[in-house]
Amino acid sequence: MKEEKYLVTSALPYANGPIHLGHIAGAYLPADIYVRYQRLMKRDVLYICGTDEHGVPITITAEMEGITPKEIVDKYYQLHKESFKRFGISFDNFSRTSYQLHYETSQDFFLTLYKKDYLTEKTTRQFYCVYDKRFLSDRYVEGICPNCKTAGARGDQCESCGKWLEQTMLIEPECKLCGNTPEIRKTKHWFLKLGEFQERLENWINSKKGWKENVVNFCNGWFKEGLQDRAVTRDLDWGVPVPLENAKGKVLYVWFDAPIGYISSTKEWAQKIGKPDLWKKYWMDKNTKLIHFIGKDNIVFHAIFFPAMLMAYTEYILPENVPANEFLNLEGNKLSTSKNYAVWLDDYLEKFPPDPLRYCLASISPETKDTDFSWKDFQARNNFVLADIVGNFINRTLTFAEKYFDNRIPHPENLSESDKAMLETSQKSFKVIGEFIENFQIRNGVKELINVARTGNKYFNDEAPWKNIRDNVGRCKTTIYVCIQVVGSLALLMYPFMPFTSEKIRKILNIDAELNNLKWGDNIRDKLSPGHILGKPEILFKKIEDSEIEPEIEKLRSISMQLKSKKEEVNYVDISEFKKIDIRVATVTNCERIKGAKNLLKFEVDDGEGKRQIVAGVAQYYEPDELIGKRIIIVTNLKPVKLMGETSNGMLLAATYGDKLTLLTTDREIDTGSKIS
Ligand code: MF3
Ligand code: ZN
Repeated sequence: MKEEKYLVTSALPYANGPIHLGHIAGAYLPADIYVRYQRLMKRDVLYICGTDEHGVPITITAEMEGITPKEIVDKYYQLHKESFKRFGISFDNFSRTSYQLHYETSQDFFLTLYKKDYLTEKTTRQFYCVYDKRFLSDRYVEGICPNCKTAGARGDQCESCGKWLEQTMLIEPECKLCGNTPEIRKTKHWFLKLGEFQERLENWINSKKGWKENVVNFCNGWFKEGLQDRAVTRDLDWGVPVPLENAKGKVLYVWFDAPIGYISSTKEWAQKIGKPDLWKKYWMDKNTKLIHFIGKDNIVFHAIFFPAMLMAYTEYILPENVPANEFLNLEGNKLSTSKNYAVWLDDYLEKFPPDPLRYCLASISPETKDTDFSWKDFQARNNFVLADIVGNFINRTLTFAEKYFDNRIPHPENLSESDKAMLETSQKSFKVIGEFIENFQIRNGVKELINVARTGNKYFNDEAPWKNIRDNVGRCKTTIYVCIQVVGSLALLMYPFMPFTSEKIRKILNIDAELNNLKWGDNIRDKLSPGHILGKPEILFKKIEDSEIEPEIEKLRSISMQLKSKKEEVNYVDISEFKKIDIRVATVTNCERIKGAKNLLKFEVDDGEGKRQIVAGVAQYYEPDELIGKRIIIVTNLKPVKLMGETSNGMLLAATYGDKLTLLTTDREIDTGSKIS
């Protein structure tokens, strides 16, 4: 049998904003844990990522900030790369979808599918904004989701129910740039014949073992509805150009080119190591297990759309698994990038080391349902678990060896039952944790890791080496010897989860800091044999004070308060509601008092189409005479009412403040009857 290989990917992050904890918990930390474990198993594993630099998210950010898409993506490519590195996300390659190699790869993909007749050209109806003079692709148009009826659904997908939309299905569509109602125009696009793949996709997914229930259910929901042709091109000037003669001004849909980024990033990796063909060994060999780590909002693209593309191309392998995570909430509220309600990775790393967060996020990994990150919980996990359990066990062991055994591993006597049990516990956990990681259960994995340290503490307490040092040195030496073996095992066991701390411990233990000669599950005893000299112990986990996290909690609290109060104050109306009101410029042709009514004036106005009568309560503010001939603003389609026996057919617009009032008029000369919008 040929050697098994693993090709692991994390969703390519959009290069339009910083990385936050939701990203990390969803697609990066679980993948990194998986990959680091596989590397320690000495398996052939390649971890691929890069920035997703096309699509409407990027162009909208650029437009809002008044800079070019290129400037945006250049900035965030660098930032993402740096932050991931500082956090210990250990990609083998981190590429960009704006590279030439990616353009070539995606265009080849498109052409291949085109030649195989999996792409059809269709004239479609698309929203077009006459004010902005452009087609409104994807997120440029928002409206009410036809599926769940939530407002603010985007032209490509509803964030609320996750449904993938065809934009013309949106109810009350609005141009994201100017708020106007777009019109529908015809345009030409290429569609992937997704429907043709339904049966194969269905058979494939339902034959897969070890897929998460949420992912399979989500896909089956799709199948039930029936897969439709999907447009893979867009009318945009940012993206990979469609490689056809008759496709001027068209680019590939970002969800067509981005997953191909996994392939081009692998190609780039192969070129960098001087073996340009080596990427095929991963992408075109049935012995490769391709695993996509993503957040749940990406499921359809990784479990249906991209696999269909791969099937259509035929030479490529299909994903072995798509372990999508649910979402991470923050202090009980939904995380939101646009509302700045998030914990940004860079901010975190300015204040705290990476490993406590890696541990915390692994412990609350949203594997089967949404979970919540809170700073208090983070602090508690750091202080009461990492510091008090893990750090304490390692530290008391190593300081004991330093103090009484001159920093050398003592010679043990014959091992007692409890010694053996302790060693077995730590040795067995390699298998247990390994299985959890292979099944994408990192919460269970990290729990087991802590259990080893917890057992270590209990063993240390039960054996009481601080007593034995006086009256039973042999036992004492044996205990410390055993504890040091456990510390060594912990260094390896924690490597996937907390690589920085693992390295520190390996350095203190004076063993293979580079990990070249260490393997997951190996008995570490030959590296840590009696007489081996140890380095100086140091504190591994610093306690986190209330004063350090309070500002963080406060920051989030004030943002969420603002958001909530905004929601209460503003009673939004839809542009379409506003547009129901017919407001026009009118000229006052006559104005007089109404007998018996102190406040009312009777107006006769010309609204451009003829005369109409309006009664308004402005008699305290204006003399009738001064109003005749004035250009004012009126609402023409207000339901007529009778006031003091006079019909009022419309309403004048006026501004009031305290006891002041002024009628609205126009800033420049304009014809009577002009419409106000
Ligand atoms: N950029 C996308 C997101 O952040 C993920 C792209 S994953 C890929 O949601 F497969 F398309 F690369
Ligand atoms: Zn517009």
